[in-house]
Amino acid sequence: MSFRSVLVAVDGSRHSDMALAHAIELARDGNARLTILTATPPPPGVSLTGPGAVAAAEAAARMDHDFDEILRAAADRVPDDLPVTTVHASGPPAQAILNEMERGDHDLIVMGSRGLGLARALMGSVSHRVLRHAPAAVLIVHAEGKPDAGAPAASDQEGRGASVSR
Ligand SMILES: Nc1ncnc2c1ncn2[C@@H]1O[C@H](COP(=O)(O)OP(=O)(O)OP(=O)(O)O)[C@@H](O)[C@H]1O
Ligand SMILES: [Mg+2]
Repeated sequence: MSFRSVLVAVDGSRHSDMALAHAIELARDGNARLTILTATPPPPGVSLTGPGAVAAAEAAARMDHDFDEILRAAADRVPDDLPVTTVHASGPPAQAILNEMERGDHDLIVMGSRGLGLARALMGSVSHRVLRHAPAAVLIVHAEGKPDAGAPAASDQEGRGASVSR
């Protein structure tokens, strides 16, 4: 099966790194368009007035910058002979991914099973939500090996990566 337009969502996690590797291969082998998307998530609590507002704005700008770096690093991994489009969205990541799928008429979304969060579940909330609502095919990629920093080793409930600290 080949796809005409592959979208990959990156958040800088190992799982999304693996998703990117698959997306690059799929796009190259299938002569498909490749789009890399990252979304700066909304800050947890926003104070619109008072001294907290300045700190919140600074934190938001820092986060935006960090996700810009993530997007740039991902684009740098794409071989020079493969055309790539980058999209830096903001807002809830699952919604940003679903919006881009519609907008760009992508027929495949590639993403990691989990991301930077500490979720113990098989899938994070973003991949779960996209899988439920995606208008096209979804490829969810799971990186083998150690969990991301901070994530408990026991989070590998699916039994993969069993070599990890056991
Ligand atoms: N901000 C984001 N921008 C782009 N893609 C994202 C973003 N966050 C997550 N993703 C994509 O979704 C995949 C799964 O991440 P998800 O956020 O669902 O898991 P998690 O961080 O472990 O859990 P949670 O966020 O629910 O605590 C990532 O590998 C990545 O492909
Ligand atoms: Mg996450």
